[in-house]
Amino acid sequence: MKNYTTLKDISNISELIKEGILLKMNPFEFKDLGKHKTLVMLFFNSSLRTRLSTEKAAKNLGMDVMILNVNDAWNLEFEDGTIMNMDKSEHIKEAAQVISQYADIIAVRAFPTLKDKAKDESEFVINNFKKYATVPIVNMESSTAHPLQALADAITISELTEKAKPKVVLSWAPHPKALPQAVANSFVEMMQDLDVDLTITHPQGYELSEKITKSTTINYNQEDALKDADFVYVKNWSNYNDYGKILNNDENWMMTKAKLGKAKFMHCLPVRRNVVVEDSVLDSDQSVVIKQANNRTFAVQVVLKQLLENL
Ligand code: CP
Repeated sequence: MKNYTTLKDISNISELIKEGILLKMNPFEFKDLGKHKTLVMLFFNSSLRTRLSTEKAAKNLGMDVMILNVNDAWNLEFEDGTIMNMDKSEHIKEAAQVISQYADIIAVRAFPTLKDKAKDESEFVINNFKKYATVPIVNMESSTAHPLQALADAITISELTEKAKPKVVLSWAPHPKALPQAVANSFVEMMQDLDVDLTITHPQGYELSEKITKSTTINYNQEDALKDADFVYVKNWSNYNDYGKILNNDENWMMTKAKLGKAKFMHCLPVRRNVVVEDSVLDSDQSVVIKQANNRTFAVQVVLKQLLENL
């Protein structure tokens, strides 16, 4: 692996999942692999799980870690050929090369604008880091993708499934804020690569990009979609077609114990209780969200391990 910016960087997903599960059993097996190597983590946005699990994973591999909240640094310019006489103080061309001198791997979190669809879809932050940095880049959630979360989700389903081909449902939920499509996009793409029966359910108008959903079943009837589900992944996303807008916040789409049936409940967290999902689901044994969050460490650890092996 040379970079981990999209799921396309994975050459063999079942091997990667197996390796992640083995690392979970013996997290310090490769504790010297990252000795004298530094991971620089750059955050343009908030994080709890990604920040702590990535630091923990890097330390499990013996790496040093430096973290920069980019909003505390110089305001970066990403456009080429601009006259920088406004609020942007430093160009990505210099910044990425400079950071590369301090880092062996750079991890970046940069959410979408949710205003300029074309700009977000160009993945201008992560792709400019990839273009100008001289070390591998890891995506800690970009405008359109959250591949570390998707890998942790795949590990969680692989560990917990009792069936060769489980039914997995991605169910949209209401939310007061406009959220990105990144988690849903990567979850769908990851599930398409696994041996699962995948259904997406959401109100009409909340279709994800067809480039993501391809031929995946979409059922606008949530109750019907949830029938016989083994895993229900609940997530809000703002509108993709009327980009970044909240068009429907129907509370009837909230996940309840009655709707969940016997399925396991998944969510990437953070989650708003009694808006996205009711307490009785999160507080039940059917919720696997804490296990999912734990698997974030081993998902990123297996990615860092493969990147270190290729340095
Ligand atoms: N799921 C996830 O990425 O969590 P954080 O935003 O807290 O990192």
